[in-house]
Amino acid sequence: MTRAISLHDVSKSYAKGVRVVDRLSLDIEPGEFLVLLGPSGCGKSTVLRMIAGLEEIDEGELLLDGEYANDLAPSARDMAMVFQNFALYPNMTSRANIGFPLRVEAPGADPRPRVDATARMLGIEDLLDRLPGQLSGGERQRVAMGRAIARHPSAFLMDEPLSNLDAKLRNRLRAEISKLTRELGVTTVYVTHDQSEAMSLGDRVAVLRGGVLQQLGTPRSVYALPRNVFVAAFIGTPRINLLRGVVRAPLDGAMTIGLGRQALRLPEPLSLDHQLLRVQQGREVIVGLRSEAVRLAKPASARPGEVPISGLVEHVEFQGHEVLVHFNTGSSPAVVPDLEAPRPARRTRRRREGGRVLGRLKERAGALRAGPVVVLDDPADARDPAPPEGRLPGDLIVRTTPDLELRHGMQVPLLVDIAHLFVFDQHGERICPAPARLPDLED
Ligand SMILES: Nc1ncnc2c1ncn2[C@@H]1O[C@H](COP(=O)(O)OP(=O)(O)OP(=O)(O)O)[C@@H](O)[C@H]1O
Ligand SMILES: [Mg+2]
Repeated sequence: MTRAISLHDVSKSYAKGVRVVDRLSLDIEPGEFLVLLGPSGCGKSTVLRMIAGLEEIDEGELLLDGEYANDLAPSARDMAMVFQNFALYPNMTSRANIGFPLRVEAPGADPRPRVDATARMLGIEDLLDRLPGQLSGGERQRVAMGRAIARHPSAFLMDEPLSNLDAKLRNRLRAEISKLTRELGVTTVYVTHDQSEAMSLGDRVAVLRGGVLQQLGTPRSVYALPRNVFVAAFIGTPRINLLRGVVRAPLDGAMTIGLGRQALRLPEPLSLDHQLLRVQQGREVIVGLRSEAVRLAKPASARPGEVPISGLVEHVEFQGHEVLVHFNTGSSPAVVPDLEAPRPARRTRRRREGGRVLGRLKERAGALRAGPVVVLDDPADARDPAPPEGRLPGDLIVRTTPDLELRHGMQVPLLVDIAHLFVFDQHGERICPAPARLPDLED
């Protein structure tokens, strides 16, 4: 029987006072493939280990098939774990490795039929007589997977099982895992820090940051309606463009969002979402534009809902089927802390900013409210915007076809599709489209 897994307000601290998992609630349906996604150190493995019973739960409840299971022994949970560093018994053949849990479970029974069926499913029939030392990394990983599934557990818990493999093999095994878990219909919780892996595998994705659930939803919904700027920036490649903006809503004129030297003029009549932005008049916000929300075209060719800006070509990234153009539009990028940095790095960075009382207050407010991302630094930073880590100078990346001849230094007209505009407030919470349009946290 496949199993439903529920976490209700589950918390975990290792050192006193520091919660690495903070009041996490998740309901995982029987047969669902749920991905836990987040940067290094956000608590993904800890959550998985608590579900497996390898880590004690400090507060909150774990329910398996609706039954309280905090204190259930790991062996009684009937779950199979696959780790990043899969361990096979080095002196056993693949056949013996895969059959091992079967022999433990039912000592008298012949494991052969199950081992053969599993090997067929994974395409490793030819490897059954080899020792782990005679297998490649990818082959070993498949044998490890075979050992986990031969038993038909009631749930799979997978912790970055593919991260040691090269990209090609990773893609292939990713497809195999997806097919296999669905064929078996077994509830699967899969941990990764790789958003593209999460998006391609998950029925739903739970995005974690600093031990706090940021959003839970289908890949489509977390991409289309990210609840905050962290989720927006964590999901999607190239990363969403995040620019500092100022809302201007004069009583007698058109509403605009100032972006440094330029402004987006919101089309009239204002949509409901844009009308709600009025209350932000004069305030700093963060504007999010995915690369597909902007195209290279003259103002004259604007379709309804598109507004013109222009950009100076800083860098052209050829990708074969498409080109990523880095523009300087005269705006300042907003910086999102914690996107990839492990926790210690974040602390160091914050400590460096330690003199800034405002920053610290925001940090504390963020910690207290357990979740919201504090994005806007001291306004003084706006004078000297540094490019966000991992990005080249240029504040706007746009995707285009490879046939355009673009060179560094060209001034290019751009059209922004306002229907695809995101606006986040100073705490990084999405305010446009309106938060009510969020598929709610437990959807
Ligand atoms: N046994 C432990 N003792 C103390 N701190 C721990 C222990 N295990 C994990 N931590 C801390 O808890 C936090 C969450 O760790 P966890 O392993 O769950 O992160 P993760 O999201 O799986 O990260 P990664 O992607 O790097 O594997 C980290 O800050 C980590 O340093
Ligand atoms: Mg981990």
